[in-house]
Amino acid sequence: MSENLIIADGNKNEKYSVLYNQIRSLLDGECDLISNMANISSMIHQTFGFWWTGFYRVIGNELVLGPFQGPLACSRISYGRGVCGTAWKEGRTIIVPDVDKFPGHIACSSASKSEIVVPVFDKTGATIIAVLDIDSDELNKFDDIDQRWLESIVSGL
Ligand code: SME
Repeated sequence: MSENLIIADGNKNEKYSVLYNQIRSLLDGECDLISNMANISSMIHQTFGFWWTGFYRVIGNELVLGPFQGPLACSRISYGRGVCGTAWKEGRTIIVPDVDKFPGHIACSSASKSEIVVPVFDKTGATIIAVLDIDSDELNKFDDIDQRWLESIVSGL
């Protein structure tokens, strides 16, 4: 993979399309999970300028902070807690247009206004090994376009 991230001009789909191809190329050349999570966080974060972009890994009965870009975040999240713990428990992507309206939302930063959390499944598709958590400082930032592309991006991990 080129070491320079290419960021497409144009709409969200075009940006994701270019990003997706660069991430596929990254994953083809590297099999280490932490390394790939680190670069994927960076590439998503730089492409869209989100507030916080990163992974929490499933370790035992908790989510533990993994590679991320952005400000300091909480280190551990229990099963079923917050948006991340709920996405893990329910095994599905959760979009939160306004974090203040999500019961139990864990506020790592008061600047975070909306959020998407995408479960990361293992290669068999049977077990959740991590979640991808993205926060924005704008309300209502994420929609089904983000969901579709982000689910595709993490499906190769
Ligand atoms: N907002 C998350 C906690 C993690 S931080 O946002 C990075 C949640 O409620 O799960």
